[in-house]
Amino acid sequence: MLAGSELWLLRLMADRGRALLDADTLLMVVEEAGELRVPASSGQGSVRRRILPLHGSALGALHAAGSPRHFDRPRGAEAAWLHELGLEARAALVEPLQMAGHGSGLVIALRSDGGFRDPDARALESFAQSVAQRLAAERSVEIERLRYGMQARERERTRWAREIHDETVQGLGALRLKLASARDLQDRQALEEAVEDVLEGLGAEIDGLRHLITELRPAALDDLGLPAALEALARRAQAIDGLDVKTEIDLQGYDDGGRLDAELESTVYRVVQEALTNVGKHAQASSATVEVRADGAFMWVQVTDDGSGLPPDVEQRASERVEQGSGGFGMSGMRERAELIGGELAVRPADQMTGKGTTVRLTVPLSGRPLTAAQGG
Ligand SMILES: Nc1ncnc2c1ncn2[C@@H]1O[C@H](COP(=O)(O)OP(=O)(O)OP(=O)(O)O)[C@@H](O)[C@H]1O
Ligand SMILES: [Mg+2]
Repeated sequence: MLAGSELWLLRLMADRGRALLDADTLLMVVEEAGELRVPASSGQGSVRRRILPLHGSALGALHAAGSPRHFDRPRGAEAAWLHELGLEARAALVEPLQMAGHGSGLVIALRSDGGFRDPDARALESFAQSVAQRLAAERSVEIERLRYGMQARERERTRWAREIHDETVQGLGALRLKLASARDLQDRQALEEAVEDVLEGLGAEIDGLRHLITELRPAALDDLGLPAALEALARRAQAIDGLDVKTEIDLQGYDDGGRLDAELESTVYRVVQEALTNVGKHAQASSATVEVRADGAFMWVQVTDDGSGLPPDVEQRASERVEQGSGGFGMSGMRERAELIGGELAVRPADQMTGKGTTVRLTVPLSGRPLTAAQGG
């Protein structure tokens, strides 16, 4: 299967190839799972059938021949493959496409009035080579991206495991100890007091687990969309950490009343979540601001606090801690998420002069990102 980025590349290259050859139509044909598909085409001709069998079709025979062809005023059997695609042409150039470890295909250029000459055939040949090279490069980037995503997920699990261990397991262990020692004392009064304490403690643990579950799976994001989910995060930081959190969320420039794509939404949500958690944990701040803005080209997400500012060696310490598995996942996690959607993360003092306060800023280019329908995501 061609990945999304490979399809995108083929479409882009189809436009380029058509311009390069001054053709009226340019087609990319790719062999996939026993079929020939036309994943990309550029120009006037509208392709009627985009999938043809590899065996038993005229296009299949052209592909199987595996050599460059030049058709001038194709007629009868020579034009059968054109008819299969629902196209007509005065002249056609066909060039095999060899994609290392990736199957094969054809690049086809059509003209409706004039003919092609030898230099055109050579241009198509080198164009087909560059398509193959670009596809191979794109594929290795895609594999790298998958591997990177897998590592990021693994690290994230480690982090949640640590959170559950440090918070819930430790807490429950302490409660068990309390009950056990009260039992061993054989003092009714002490036992009753311990039971009361433990009941209270269990209540707190249940609240903690609920909180953790909400963080793991932000239902608000699915149900209400990004702005409302971010509001909920802000209100929670307010309630739990006593922070005064302001939100300025304006997505008019982008979301058109619809929904952003799920990957972008969850990245923005997670970055704001971690940034606010860090403010509560480390900043000793009294207030914070969450700003989200978008225009046609970019989306900016910024969390700023008025706290003590970052410690001087923060980057160095964080990477050491990540290597030891003892925390500092927050910053690297935010950065990884940003990179996975083609964005960038910057963390710097809110006040450059004094170094006080911290600003976490995520910038994501929006061109080429899908828009999801209102209920989507
Ligand atoms: N808003 C902030 N104000 C001051 N210091 C901060 C702020 N955000 C992060 N830091 C500093 O940066 C360090 C790294 O943050 P990071 O989120 O990576 O790790 P953590 O919060 O300590 O642990 P984890 O996120 O894995 O639970 C923190 O330990 C803290 O010293
Ligand atoms: Mg953190």
